[in-house]
Amino acid sequence: MKYNTFLTLLVVIATSIFAAVAADHNDTKSAASPKPVDDDMHHLMEYVFEPAWKRLQVTMASEPSDKKAWKVMKADALTLAEVTNLLLHRFPEENTDDWVRLAVETRSAGSDFYQAARQKDFPSASKSYRLMLKSCNTCHDAFADGEHQLAP
Ligand code: HEC
Repeated sequence: MKYNTFLTLLVVIATSIFAAVAADHNDTKSAASPKPVDDDMHHLMEYVFEPAWKRLQVTMASEPSDKKAWKVMKADALTLAEVTNLLLHRFPEENTDDWVRLAVETRSAGSDFYQAARQKDFPSASKSYRLMLKSCNTCHDAFADGEHQLAP
């Protein structure tokens, strides 16, 4: 084999390996991006958001008296703050900017709520919990015909 032919062959092999590795990397990246398991907004709200809020109505009625009750609050606060991220790749057909703004607002109040629960600061947790629900409700006003006004 001539030296030049050998070099060309080497370049071809190296390029194919590089392309294969890149393709594999792209496959991994696409598999790693979150995809809705059920893209029905009603189901997401009813089965993921609603149970956490219902539990919080009970938990937030009075200051927790033991570690276990604080843990329940932290769990539901973090759940709502984190699942709000799922709203950021499920967009309505129009007014996406408002949707994103309200989801970010909800997540931010939810995050403050979670941090206050971690500090066992009930007054501050209560305040952020109510603020979070206000954002939930503002989104329901705008995107669910004003239905589902959730009480603290
Ligand atoms: C960015 C918009 C948005 C935010 C933020 C939002 N929701 Fe919703 N939610 C909706 C929409 C849209 C519906 C109506 C879904 C449907 O029935 O098609 C809904 C419906 C609901 C329902 C009624 C479900 C049922 O069974 O009918 C509950 C409960 C609910 N949301 C809880 C929450 C809670 C709790 C939060 C805040 C932590 C929240 N949502 C934040 C958009 C939002």
